[in-house]
Amino acid sequence: MTTEPLILGIETSCDETGVAVVEGFGVRSSVLSSQTEAHARFGGVVPEVAARAHVEALRPLVHLALARAGVHSDDLDGIAVTQGPGLAGALMVGFSFAKALAWSLGKPFIGIDHMEGHLVAPRLEDADYAPPAIVLLASGGHSQIVHVRAWGDYEVLGETIDDAAGEAFDKLARFMGLGYPGGPAIDVASDGGDPDAIRYPRALRDRPFDFSFSGLKTSVVTSLQKAKEAGDVPPLPDVAASIQEAIVDVLVDKTFNAVEHTGAGAVAGGGGVLANRRLRARLDEEAAARGVDLHLPTPALCTDNGAMIAGAATIHLRAGRTTEWHADVRPGQRLDG
Ligand code: KG4
Ligand code: ZN
Repeated sequence: MTTEPLILGIETSCDETGVAVVEGFGVRSSVLSSQTEAHARFGGVVPEVAARAHVEALRPLVHLALARAGVHSDDLDGIAVTQGPGLAGALMVGFSFAKALAWSLGKPFIGIDHMEGHLVAPRLEDADYAPPAIVLLASGGHSQIVHVRAWGDYEVLGETIDDAAGEAFDKLARFMGLGYPGGPAIDVASDGGDPDAIRYPRALRDRPFDFSFSGLKTSVVTSLQKAKEAGDVPPLPDVAASIQEAIVDVLVDKTFNAVEHTGAGAVAGGGGVLANRRLRARLDEEAAARGVDLHLPTPALCTDNGAMIAGAATIHLRAGRTTEWHADVRPGQRLDG
């Protein structure tokens, strides 16, 4: 007998198929099938390719997650799955699968907001992480600053008005011929570079919690084209480090604007961009300087995974909230909507 719920979590909102077994907030197993390679030759995620890959990966991954956790499906207390936001076709694969499984096993079915999963992820490794907290969520699809007032009570303080931070990394890396995904490529290319070599713009200074990254892209493209024409292209590490600094500066500034605004004593992060080494170091410095606790998940829990979905379901199941059988995916779902 366990006192904490034993939950199977399934994530298929984008290009990672993630399945995990979580007990309360403790990860019993977590397995992943990444489609990065399938999408790399297109330079980005292709929705139809993603949906098909989820179909292929899901069944074996569920078996693997249960086997690694040493759990039989009859022992589960619930089946959780990402309901949105995300790519409609990709979401539908996981959602239908999870619903059918829950129905056939006679278990509670819990649809989870993908962003709530990211908000909860740090808790899976760090029992000291608890609301109220400010969480910076930055991935390929989203950039948001969320005030976690309590588990299940979220206020989106700010967000991007155009490109997401990860999208900016991806687009700029593609322009520079560094491949996909762009974030890790720029992170690596920045090694040894001078972050102050080129001063790229930091947008939306007058809006304390919102982001805009499309101007940065235009600025980088224009300045590199001019440099090329003049035959004076700056070294790649300097360009990469300067781009990274422009994005990181804004993410860090606005996160701590939110800390000041709310008086929250803790900061956390989630989403693929939080794997960025410079961002992690800058958040660390800033949190230490202000005496605020910082809870950054290891990179594997920053990116999409099934454990964060199961962890978020723990909150809902404890509160007695489950999802109705007739519910459908919500590709455009908002955390505070
Ligand atoms: O959370 P995630 O795995 O998927 C979603 O978009 O939901 O995030 C992927 C994004 C991509 O844009 C990728 O370029 C970015 O996270 N990323 C990084 C790094 N690793 C992944 N960005 C900057 N630095 C990194 N080290
Ligand atoms: Zn994500």
